[in-house]
Amino acid sequence: MRKYIVAGNWKMNNDINESKALINELVAAVNSKTLTNTRVVVAPTFVNLVNVQELAKDSAVEVAAQNMHQAKSGAFTGEISAEMLTSIGLKSVILGHSERREYFGETDALLAEKVTTALANNLEVIFCFGEVLEDRKSENHFKVVASQIKNGIFHLDASAWSNIVLAYEPVWAIGTGETASPEQAQDMHAFIRGLVKEQYGNDVAENVSILYGGSVKPANAKEIFSKNDVDGGLIGGAALNASDFSAIIDATL
Ligand code: 13P
Repeated sequence: MRKYIVAGNWKMNNDINESKALINELVAAVNSKTLTNTRVVVAPTFVNLVNVQELAKDSAVEVAAQNMHQAKSGAFTGEISAEMLTSIGLKSVILGHSERREYFGETDALLAEKVTTALANNLEVIFCFGEVLEDRKSENHFKVVASQIKNGIFHLDASAWSNIVLAYEPVWAIGTGETASPEQAQDMHAFIRGLVKEQYGNDVAENVSILYGGSVKPANAKEIFSKNDVDGGLIGGAALNASDFSAIIDATL
């Protein structure tokens, strides 16, 4: 059965001291919970991964990277490879975030390559996608999301899907305080699960966790997560505050 996942994307926030303080607080909060069917993940910046991982190692909090390069190694100044991530014990990486797509020109084709490299290195991929406001206004959102998913991850074999988590993040809801309504999220998530079912069959579709991201807060998490096809969230702003993030985790319990 698929699990709830509450993942905190710290983005380009938190220096080393702030990262340590946040993970310590979060570990203490998570240690006091009984997580039966919920995974908790945080994704700090690259420079803070090792320290955060060390502080989280005896807890249920998992640590993920926010990005990685598609090549094995070589002359790619400033980049980080999958092998570097696994060499520090990481098990997951976020790929395809809309900020990477928008500000760093990451295309579906590039993301397909990154996904392949990550999986070849046994990294779980939290694969993000979502429409911009104009797509929704013009009622193209289902079409846009379908094409991001097909072009980014439908080249995979069914067996690879045990290492895939999907994250629907409508761009108009990221950092804006405006969330998709629980119904809008459910409609899209059901559509996504339908696409996966069509391509890979019922088992893969039923087992993949589909997260919602975009202005999830303690006040709205429970209602969004209560929808059938919403299996948790990818959290930005609220993940930078341990008590807010902790309350969002509680919304899955
Ligand atoms: P916010 O929760 O700040 O809207 O960010 C969502 C997000 O982009 C998570 O990856």
